[in-house]
Amino acid sequence: MIKMQGVYKTYPNGVTALNGLDIHIDQGEFVYVVGPSGAGKSTFTKLIYREEKPTTGTVLVNDMDTSTMKQRRIPMLRRQIGVVYQDFRLLPTLTVYENVAFALEVIEENPQNIRRRVMDVLDQVRLKNKARFLPDELSGGEQQRVSIARAIVNHPKVLIADEPTGNLDPETSWEIMHILEEINTAGTTVLMATHSQEIVNTIRKRVIAIEDGMVVRDQSNGEYGYEM
Ligand SMILES: Nc1ncnc2c1ncn2[C@@H]1O[C@H](COP(=O)(O)OP(=O)(O)OP(=O)(O)O)[C@@H](O)[C@H]1O
Ligand SMILES: [Mg+2]
Repeated sequence: MIKMQGVYKTYPNGVTALNGLDIHIDQGEFVYVVGPSGAGKSTFTKLIYREEKPTTGTVLVNDMDTSTMKQRRIPMLRRQIGVVYQDFRLLPTLTVYENVAFALEVIEENPQNIRRRVMDVLDQVRLKNKARFLPDELSGGEQQRVSIARAIVNHPKVLIADEPTGNLDPETSWEIMHILEEINTAGTTVLMATHSQEIVNTIRKRVIAIEDGMVVRDQSNGEYGYEM
């Protein structure tokens, strides 16, 4: 479902973030992306949802070539990809319900379907009872659960989480991980960049380690492999 071949990425300022990546990820996999700060993990994820384009090489997502894709096709690509960030990125003036519904409203679902689907995903992240709250009335873990609900509301084929537990305490991080695992079990490919040795070594999954823009390790049931 995700195929990168000979991918290089040099930013306009001359920094080379990716230095020849070849990566295949199948539908339904759960993959951790690990590596030192500045290694290229976020850049790698941004190529998938076409936030960035490779300088050379091909990036295929569900057989769509994101590097040559026309601008007007990008929304179609993004509908298949949910993204979760370290800092949640919720809209502060919208309620929990509205933050999640927003993603559906832009693709013109009928109102009844929107309501049902939003309540379903809020239930999935155990936040049905907070649908009317504003983001700043929630804990960090709750805000991250809203952002996960927003990311999956369109039934994406892949969920990208860039350090989703980076701002959360350990207990809250485990809650988030269990939700990501459930989403993966239901068939969604999950790709998670993380610096958490504890999580990677406890919930064992495929581990891709990136250093200096190159894959230095790719292990199923892998471990974190760096000293904290
Ligand atoms: N928009 C940008 N313009 C220029 N350089 C960038 C840009 N984004 C990232 N870089 C550079 O590319 C390299 C890789 O950055 P990236 O954010 O992908 O690393 P990372 O592995 O996600 O790091 P971290 O663990 O700190 O999040 C770094 O040297 C960074 O400074
Ligand atoms: Mg990063």
